[in-house]
Amino acid sequence: MSDYKIAPSILSADFARLGEEVDNVLAAGADWVHFDVMDNHYVPNLTIGPMVCQALRKHGVEAPIDVHLMVEPVDDMIRMFADAGATYITFHPEASRHPDRSLQLIRSLGCKAGLVFNPATGLDAAKYVMDKLDMILLMSVNPGFGGQKFIPGTLEKLRETRQLIDASGYDIRLEIDGGVNRDNIAEIAAAGADTFVAGSAIFNAPDYSEVIGAMRQSLSQ
Ligand code: DX5
Ligand code: ZN
Repeated sequence: MSDYKIAPSILSADFARLGEEVDNVLAAGADWVHFDVMDNHYVPNLTIGPMVCQALRKHGVEAPIDVHLMVEPVDDMIRMFADAGATYITFHPEASRHPDRSLQLIRSLGCKAGLVFNPATGLDAAKYVMDKLDMILLMSVNPGFGGQKFIPGTLEKLRETRQLIDASGYDIRLEIDGGVNRDNIAEIAAAGADTFVAGSAIFNAPDYSEVIGAMRQSLSQ
């Protein structure tokens, strides 16, 4: 039985009531908080930074905060998010001049480290740093916006990534981000994912418990 984690992306939450939204989604059964950081440079959108992460910790959020950096360069943001209470910090390897060094920086600051791969990007950047990874995140949409459709080719990439992780012998989570919903989550899990980001599918639903429950139900079958 896999240890599945559901990580709602707060990108689709009501930012005017963010603390309450996070409390509600955790009370509804979410495991992690997925925190999308966009800089209008690496991606064509602008979101939230370390102050908001710190504010969530101050508000009392104890669940893991999974910081997905869509910024370039990454090292300053890694330091600031580690200070702000991040649990996982992931970045896109092409956004760092020295990905190996950035991964080491994340762990040296006491956080868990991961690399993120866009739909068109191969897994090469992961191969030689498997010992420095706690997570691999595959994007199943192009980064920048919530509410996009899952790109089906990601299923084959998940299977390849699962093989790479299993062959490495390291304890590395395999996270999927983009277009995940109650209808496709089982197929995504079967392809090898164990950690599921879902933004619009959860926050646009009228009842967070119902949708998270339906996702878990699909995962358990
Ligand atoms: C996109 C973000 C995702 C996004 C997912 O760049 O990384 O986390 O919020 O949203 P949905 O689940 O709506 O595709
Ligand atoms: Zn994300």
